[in-house]
Amino acid sequence: MPEPLQLTPDMLLSSGSNRQCYYHPYNDNLCVKVLHNDSPAKTQTREINYFRLLKRRKISSPMVADLVEVVPTNRGTGVVFELVRDIDGQVAKTVGHYLRKEDTFFNRIVVDKLDELIKHLLQKNIIFRDLITENVMLRRTGTNKYTPVVVDGIGHNDFIPLCDYITALGQRKNLRKWNREKYNWFNDYSVRDEIIKIPKPARDSGPNTKAFIVT
Ligand SMILES: Nc1ncnc2c1ncn2[C@@H]1O[C@H](COP(=O)(O)OP(=O)(O)O)[C@@H](O)[C@H]1O
Ligand SMILES: [Mg+2]
Repeated sequence: MPEPLQLTPDMLLSSGSNRQCYYHPYNDNLCVKVLHNDSPAKTQTREINYFRLLKRRKISSPMVADLVEVVPTNRGTGVVFELVRDIDGQVAKTVGHYLRKEDTFFNRIVVDKLDELIKHLLQKNIIFRDLITENVMLRRTGTNKYTPVVVDGIGHNDFIPLCDYITALGQRKNLRKWNREKYNWFNDYSVRDEIIKIPKPARDSGPNTKAFIVT
């Protein structure tokens, strides 16, 4: 049994509704998430199981922060993730951070990057639950260049996981979720009307243009 990782208050990076996210004590490119005392373990279990499935099926994505391992910590079970950093080494900022600027330039970037992200997750058939503004980061990769990265809200609870094996079912599940929730997730921002048009049809009207229109 390895020694529990020691997570101290000065190492806290951010706190969400279910978990605290700490800098990893020994690796600058990782973070460690632990549940708040009163949070149910099932969200964490769902995530761990889903990442196991992705690894078994050799599915990975530059748009999903990777779950590296599960370790004991002084604050209970810790889930170790890749820490999303910008090209200059700073911790990347959430979509919420950019949207709160209410800036035309960043609004445009967010809309384009969310469109890219949704299409990518559909194409890879990676199932998501909560693509809220604090669960998606924009990783700055160069001057005015960003990659969207999901850091939370990946996975599902289906007892019989057909959506993992039948892509059409997975895509339908993802689109249902997105089309039901996008109004709520982005309601607070002026750019909401642009976001609810996502996924946008491809500019060249090739044979796949209609592939992501909702049923
Ligand atoms: N891999 C990561 N890299 C950088 N920051 C992260 C990462 N994961 C989470 N964060 C930050 O920590 C916050 C809380 O983490 P999150 O996993 O969303 O917790 P919760 O399950 O409580 O919603 C996020 O909103 C984000 O700001
Ligand atoms: Mg979250």
